[in-house]
Amino acid sequence: MPIIAPSLLSANFLQLQADCDLLNKSEADWYHLDVMDGNFVPNISFGPMLISFFRKATTKTCDVHLMIEKPERYLTAFKEAGADILTVHVEACIHLHRTLQEIKELGMKAGVAVNPHTPVSVLEPLIKEIDLVCLMSVNPGFGGQKFIPATLRKITELRRMIDLAGAVTLIEVDGGVTLENAPSIIEAGADVLVAGNTVFKSTDPLATIASLKRISSSA
Ligand code: DX5
Ligand code: ZN
Repeated sequence: MPIIAPSLLSANFLQLQADCDLLNKSEADWYHLDVMDGNFVPNISFGPMLISFFRKATTKTCDVHLMIEKPERYLTAFKEAGADILTVHVEACIHLHRTLQEIKELGMKAGVAVNPHTPVSVLEPLIKEIDLVCLMSVNPGFGGQKFIPATLRKITELRRMIDLAGAVTLIEVDGGVTLENAPSIIEAGADVLVAGNTVFKSTDPLATIASLKRISSSA
């Protein structure tokens, strides 16, 4: 069964407690928390302060996706806020290996996100050091965008790389995931589905999460 990580970016920020209660009683596995700085991406969302509130609202894994420049400046702040998984963008890190080591030394799982134009082959030298690869299937910055189909080939290639290396890295797919395209994403080899609009704009979010959880493949 895939790991389901609803993105709180699509929640209703005037009723976050209600949306957290909903996720807590759902079959969702993780909270996906999108941090944007207005520089790395053309949008600004929230930072460690709000994440510390989500931390108190749930016992589920807090999967923090940093879409910020020079993320190495904030690793301790996100650890203190309660992140379990901290994901940095490969495009934002000059010394990616060092940053991954620091995340792990702080006691978090280390993730690397890759933009749609970045080949997954850049991760090959470090694959055994990476707990999670977040493959962006839209250009990061906004919820509710359309899935980029070329991502499927990147999932297959990454799956092969991970298996060949004997690594245990999880493949997360982020952006434009729907009930319609999720089977092909799983079939290509993904482990984690992020879903923002598909969950929160659904008329029945609990049922939508349950359906995502039961997706096996398009076959
Ligand atoms: C995009 C974010 C995503 C986004 C996903 O920059 O990283 O996590 O919230 O939202 P949907 O599922 O609506 O594309
Ligand atoms: Zn994200």
